[in-house]
Amino acid sequence: MSAIFTKYTYISCLFAILCCLGCRQKSTPRYRIGFSQCTGNDDWRRNMLVEMKRELFYHPEMQLLYKDAEDDSKRQINQIKELLSEKMDILLVSPNEATPLAPIIAEVYRKGIPVIILDRKAATDSFTAYIGGDNYNIGKLAAEYIAGQLGGKGRIIEVTGLRGSSPTIERHQGFHDALTQYPGLQVITSLEGNWGPRQTREAAIRNQAAIRQADVVFAQNDVMAYAMYNYCREAGFRNIRFIGVDASPYPDAGIDLVSRSILSASLLYPSGGKEAISMAADILAGKKVPRSTLLQTVLIDNSNVKLMRLQIDKIQAQHHELEQQQSLLQEQRRLYQDQQHLLRIVVTTLCIAFLLGIVLIFILRTNRRINHQLKQQRDEIVQQRDQLVEMTAKAQKATEAKFDFFTNLSHEFRTPLTLIQAPLENLLGERQLSSSQKQQLELMQRNVSRLMRLVNQLLEYRRIESGKMQLKVSESELAVFMIDIIEAFKGFAVKKHIDLRLISRQPGIKAWFDHRLFDRVLYNLLSNAFKFTSDYGKVHIYLEKAENGRDAVIIIEDDGIGMDESTLAHAFELFYQSRESEHKGTGIGLALTREIITLHHGSVSVKSRKGAGTTFTITMPGYSDPFTSEEILKETEYVNVINPQQNHYMEELENTIPLTQLPVSGKEHHYSILIIEDHPDLNSFLAGFLNEQYEVFHAGNGTEGLQLAFHHIPDLILCDIMMDGINGIQVLSTLKKDIRTSHIPIILLSANNSEEQRIEGMHHNADAYISKPFKLKYLQETISSILSNRTLLKEHYIAEPEIRVNTNNSNKQDRKFVNDFTAIVEENLGNDGFSVEDICQQLSISKVQLYRKVKQLLNCNVNDYILDVRVKKARYLLVNSRMAISEIAFTCGFSSPAYFSTVFKARSQQTPKGFREQIYKKNEG
Ligand code: FRU
Repeated sequence: MSAIFTKYTYISCLFAILCCLGCRQKSTPRYRIGFSQCTGNDDWRRNMLVEMKRELFYHPEMQLLYKDAEDDSKRQINQIKELLSEKMDILLVSPNEATPLAPIIAEVYRKGIPVIILDRKAATDSFTAYIGGDNYNIGKLAAEYIAGQLGGKGRIIEVTGLRGSSPTIERHQGFHDALTQYPGLQVITSLEGNWGPRQTREAAIRNQAAIRQADVVFAQNDVMAYAMYNYCREAGFRNIRFIGVDASPYPDAGIDLVSRSILSASLLYPSGGKEAISMAADILAGKKVPRSTLLQTVLIDNSNVKLMRLQIDKIQAQHHELEQQQSLLQEQRRLYQDQQHLLRIVVTTLCIAFLLGIVLIFILRTNRRINHQLKQQRDEIVQQRDQLVEMTAKAQKATEAKFDFFTNLSHEFRTPLTLIQAPLENLLGERQLSSSQKQQLELMQRNVSRLMRLVNQLLEYRRIESGKMQLKVSESELAVFMIDIIEAFKGFAVKKHIDLRLISRQPGIKAWFDHRLFDRVLYNLLSNAFKFTSDYGKVHIYLEKAENGRDAVIIIEDDGIGMDESTLAHAFELFYQSRESEHKGTGIGLALTREIITLHHGSVSVKSRKGAGTTFTITMPGYSDPFTSEEILKETEYVNVINPQQNHYMEELENTIPLTQLPVSGKEHHYSILIIEDHPDLNSFLAGFLNEQYEVFHAGNGTEGLQLAFHHIPDLILCDIMMDGINGIQVLSTLKKDIRTSHIPIILLSANNSEEQRIEGMHHNADAYISKPFKLKYLQETISSILSNRTLLKEHYIAEPEIRVNTNNSNKQDRKFVNDFTAIVEENLGNDGFSVEDICQQLSISKVQLYRKVKQLLNCNVNDYILDVRVKKARYLLVNSRMAISEIAFTCGFSSPAYFSTVFKARSQQTPKGFREQIYKKNEG
């Protein structure tokens, strides 16, 4: 939940920051006004800047980037380049000199940046607008004024500004043009004052003689006029009048100098600062502006200077007031902006608070819902737990009842089993038994023993599990105890050439255990080791002390078939049935082993690798501490217990020996039977039983069964269903699908009497299903009835008698030849290009040999035989399949349906179609 909260808080803060940034962006100027000033070092230029700033107050969207070139044209060019890189939106420029500045001004203009030229002009047409005073007129007005003052006659000294600047040229031009009207007026010399006092003074010193004769000095600005005045005063030249240009409203500037009668007159030269800013605003707003704006001039002398001064003072006072108001306004505006800013923050904070409030409500609601769900789930879990407890108790009760039932049943089994076992032993003692009787009695004895062992193991397991097994332990030397048990396996080990050894790594290793129970453990593990170890393998038993130096360790190691991982993981589980066929057992032996060891406070573990062998490691207590005093055997209680179970283990081991060869009955049989059964005793018993009447082949598993079936093509097959590997149903379906064996009747044998299994068997075309245990008579009758029915059926459906090998007269090799020959023919039935040469090649015999042999054994010609088989198969398919007749023709290797029809008719005296219809009619009838 806190994660959700944090997430929402982050979103809100981000929102707030964006809002604040948005507010700030609004007050930032949008336009950058570049202003390149040729010099800022005089009153007139200062006034221009003041005017601009005053006007900028009304244009907060504009920001002024100001550069002062200090009368240096090169510096001014560089400064304009800097303004370019600072991304100005418009350029205001007052060029120091007209020609040097022209290219950079044109470049800026070409880049699309509007250019307004102020005061001094540049030698280029590439600019947007020009603003400046009418310099020509100024020169003209000055000349006219002088003419008026001197009555049209007198000597004039002209002081000019910077030579390359446009006002210098234009003022000079206007002045001289006007003077042509007054021939009495004479310019006796022209000095270069360069707009400043220093150069003016220097020029004056150089032209002292000329100045001495002058009546009037006309300087192109007030600064130079004032410098000339000062020089003349110092030089003692009186009665010279001084006229300047600019009339700037500052102390010691134009107006002040006129009012103090230092200058006779000054021509007002407006700076154009205000006009430049408002024009820039118009251009940026996309308005059209005039290309040239000439500002008006006026002459100020003692006749109007007072008025002018008053006006200027008034204007200045107004300007001052305006400035005060402006700064007040600015203050107000700042205050307003601050307040606006504050308001925005407050609004944003309120929004965030509101959002957070919504988030909080949402979280609270989600929380409540989750809590509710959790509570519901908890209630459900509690309910399920209670149900589970109840069900477990019930299941435990039911299991207990089941176990009790089985325990009781197992008890009940013991008496009848003993009553079978004892008379059996008596019977086996009789001397006049025939070998077959003896064999049958031994078979009974082995199986009774097996049952007895299972019953005993089950009962012991139950007793331990229910806590009813009373231990009676004593301290014994393990090697001594084990020698007897190992001895019991020696005979079997010799028979199978198994290397059986007891290896004691320390002498006299002792352990505390109950002899009666512990020998079960050893018998069980050893008989397992022997069961899964092949001939010439090894079973080694090691005795050693445990790491703690007190307990005893027994290791039983074999190099047998080993277990796979899943079998190993469940090895000690009760009733666990391994998927590996070799390890299928009752699932009691190892479970009991572990129970017994655990009862002794010992432990058992197993390691195994498929194909590499198995190792069991048992640890048994080497001291009596874990046992209660009742569990320790007292001397008075000691009885020499002989293990009656050992025989059961040994008998079962013997039982794993593979099927023995059947005795040859010596009689010739008309029919042969194949028995496929994985229980060796039952297999041998059935074989022995049927051997009298039939030729018998027998297989111990499905794979071997299939091989024998294809090899011998028996007349009937008896097959067990529950077999490891290929089971009975798989054997049945494989044989029924193969044309070579599909005709063989198959009887399924099963220990499972369920309806489903019976149906499954029948579904795969089993001919009969007999469940175990069965009466031999019934089996015998079923076999003979199926065989005779088969013969009748054949005669009924196939008019022609079947070609049969005379088994009575043939030897094994001949039968093999016939089998191979027929198999080759069957395999190639669908191949219409199949020839006698192919058979000869596959059988590695000559044509002559083949013809002779077939004639001799089958009493027919090879080609006739092939055609017979093809027709036979066609008959089978006509009866048993829904294939079209043309399809059957090709399947049976006829090159065309017409040829098939001809051959079929010749052999069956009817067409394939007629044959099929006749069969269908009979079936319906
Ligand atoms: C100021 C100034 C003025 C003059 C103008 C001409 O720098 O010299 O006195 O009128 O420039 O450009």
